[in-house]
Amino acid sequence: MSRRADEERPPMGIVVCFGLASLAAAGFATTYVLGLGNVWYGGTFGGALMFLAIGLGLWSKRIDSASPEFVEQRDLGPTPEPQFEKFMGALTSQPVPRSRVLWSMLGFAGGTLGLAALFPLRSLFPQMGVNPQRSLESRVYKRGQAIVTEDGTGVKPDDLEYGGVLTVFPEGFNITEAAGATLLVRIDPADLHLPANRTNWTVDGVVAYSKLCTHAGCPVGLYSDESRQLLCPCHHSIFDAADGGKPVEGPASHPLPMLPLATDENGFLIARGGFDRPVGAAWWGWPDGREKP
Ligand code: FES
Repeated sequence: MSRRADEERPPMGIVVCFGLASLAAAGFATTYVLGLGNVWYGGTFGGALMFLAIGLGLWSKRIDSASPEFVEQRDLGPTPEPQFEKFMGALTSQPVPRSRVLWSMLGFAGGTLGLAALFPLRSLFPQMGVNPQRSLESRVYKRGQAIVTEDGTGVKPDDLEYGGVLTVFPEGFNITEAAGATLLVRIDPADLHLPANRTNWTVDGVVAYSKLCTHAGCPVGLYSDESRQLLCPCHHSIFDAADGGKPVEGPASHPLPMLPLATDENGFLIARGGFDRPVGAAWWGWPDGREKP
């Protein structure tokens, strides 16, 4: 195929692939700005890479098929100089198929993809957009939010005896959503050995943890006051309620999310902030506030 003919008729398959790559890259930027979630981010960005790769593959195949094959007879000695020069001359004189349209499309697709890849960087700057850490902290509980029982009654530390456990929820939260289920456990303060930066997360020995097991999301419902351990009945993970919910046995490898507590002016328990980590099974990742565990 002559160079001129190639420029006139850029192969549609490659053009379409580069076009789709550009569209998918623009889609990634859009879904990121709209915060549609990981499935959309992965699908659009992966799609952009895939179409770009297919387009480049088709193009390289086309270049390859445009080059004639050379078969050089194998001699016992070195290739005679004239024959070698003839071979090199033939090789370098072969026209490589070019197309301005293809180069333009490739540049556009690569540029769009590069630009789209810059969008997630804004997450690093809270003033420019979403701050993952902040959205995580505000999840489920907000600072100052009241902690209530299933029927909406406020809870005071003395409502629990030492060794007592109570399931509570953030006020106003839909209690059919598992993410809000929280366990209050009251432990003699002398038996608590919380990390140094959490000693003020408890009120009169009351500590609060997410009720969802970090192994696979079952409800952690059993408590032994003797060992001060919480047990998940699904696969027998055990968490130390006196030590920040650390896993001490079983398949769970992550601590139970802990909720910092305080009291309001009437002595009712409130959240000092959000859970310290995402609730639910560890592999659920970092929900962005739209997904429900
Ligand atoms: S879900 Fe709790 S141990 Fe498996």
